[in-house]
Amino acid sequence: MGEQESTGGPHFVGKKDELIEAKRSFRTLDGRDVLIIYHEGVFHAMDSYCYHAGGMLQNGDIEEIDGKVCIICPRHKYKISLAKGECLYKGTDPREKPPVPRWYSKGVKQRIHTVTETNGDVYVRLSQDTTWIESDYYQGEKGKEERAKA
Ligand code: FES
Repeated sequence: MGEQESTGGPHFVGKKDELIEAKRSFRTLDGRDVLIIYHEGVFHAMDSYCYHAGGMLQNGDIEEIDGKVCIICPRHKYKISLAKGECLYKGTDPREKPPVPRWYSKGVKQRIHTVTETNGDVYVRLSQDTTWIESDYYQGEKGKEERAKA
């Protein structure tokens, strides 16, 4: 315990132009593997391994779902919003007659980090939220071992 502590200060992650060109960039910040995404004029940062089973979100497609921009995990197609890290799924309410499929949220599952930009330099500040978020698992020792075996 305690190894995850960081100063909380922003980390320089690259020049804006380079990150825009790359669209997806992988960085390890204070031992945490983070994916930086540039999509339609906006930078986002999130834990790079899918909370579900450690899939590489870096290789996922981006789609708008129910008004939210989401990355689709390449492994089992879970949909994770870039803004909040919420996992969205389509379901029906059996009490509805007839049931109409709608998008629902499973809640925040993927840890989101904050991206800022100053004079063409881009920074990521790791989330300081101390509540457990499921994607934390794949950032820890056990999760990393498990991913390596998959
Ligand atoms: Fe991402 Fe299963 S690992 S959907």
